[in-house]
Amino acid sequence: MAVINMEEARKNVSRVGFLDIEIDPTLDLFHEIERLKKEKNAILLAHYYQEPDIQDVADYIGDSLGLAQQAEKTTADIIVFAGVHFMAETAKILNPTKKVLLPDLNAGCSLADSAPADRFRAFKEQHPNHIVISYINCTADIKALSDIICTSSNAEKIIESLPADQPIIFAPDKNLGAYLNKKSGRNMVLWDGACMVHEIFSLEKITKLKVRHPEAKLIAHPECEEPLLKIADFIGSTTQLLKYTQQDPSSSYIVATETGILHQMQKASAGKTFIPAPPNNSCACNDCPYMKLNTLEKLYLCMEYETPEILMDEQLRLAAKKPIERMLEISKAAGLGG
Ligand code: 13P
Ligand code: SF4
Repeated sequence: MAVINMEEARKNVSRVGFLDIEIDPTLDLFHEIERLKKEKNAILLAHYYQEPDIQDVADYIGDSLGLAQQAEKTTADIIVFAGVHFMAETAKILNPTKKVLLPDLNAGCSLADSAPADRFRAFKEQHPNHIVISYINCTADIKALSDIICTSSNAEKIIESLPADQPIIFAPDKNLGAYLNKKSGRNMVLWDGACMVHEIFSLEKITKLKVRHPEAKLIAHPECEEPLLKIADFIGSTTQLLKYTQQDPSSSYIVATETGILHQMQKASAGKTFIPAPPNNSCACNDCPYMKLNTLEKLYLCMEYETPEILMDEQLRLAAKKPIERMLEISKAAGLGG
């Protein structure tokens, strides 16, 4: 329930995750957000899984790698992050003098939640001599326990940068890890974590859909489970999936990732058909419940009142920064951008 009192709303942010106050319903939020960007010298970075309205007001829309690269190099005073918590936290780690805002602090990630730091520390101790590669979808605590960070755009290059006989722990996504083991021929030890959105797809329904649409190509994010990846025509990060649909001559695609990406796919290839891969029940489970916590209203409020803000312990920030910087260096050398 929205509260009227600003002081009370600010106090409640740590509990409810956002500024829960009424907005004048006559406000043109698109106009207001553009105004605030200019007035405050703020840059709005958005992930492809954000709702279409948010993507349409963003200065940059990208995957995790592209967003981290933009956050690192921006000269704006404020980074407004329309994405999930680990993404905004990465922005703060890379560019600490900027104020980093996240519309809803509860925009977490099931994959990041699947790797608690204390359990991961114990797991690491059981595997001495292993280098830890962690997928960027993890907390700053896990990053601080890692040697190199990767995203789905650069994971193969990151692995290739290590000697073939180097033992590796890969965390937290077991599906991405298994996919990378297969591609690289390595035998990385995998942490048992997964993304709830990418594990919900129904192989049976997708197979039926492929029969009904024999011309459609199945494209998938590598966080999906192996049986689905096995029948996919193309596998890649969100940016890679988007680029594929722009360059490939097919007219239709079954898209096995979060539905937010369809907005840019449709914009870039207006004549093509994009079918969201069906989940294994009747709910809209291939919408990421965390990504979709951000709304245009919360985005406007966080820009207007500059809260919620991402704040970090400096020692943790410095420890988490090292493996991210290593990722950015390898990505730069490989010519990879998000
Ligand atoms: P990308 O880096 O491919 O955009 O993936 C981010 C993510 O959260 C996938 O679930
Ligand atoms: Fe995390 Fe999955 Fe949502 Fe991506 S789609 S932010 S991995 S819960």
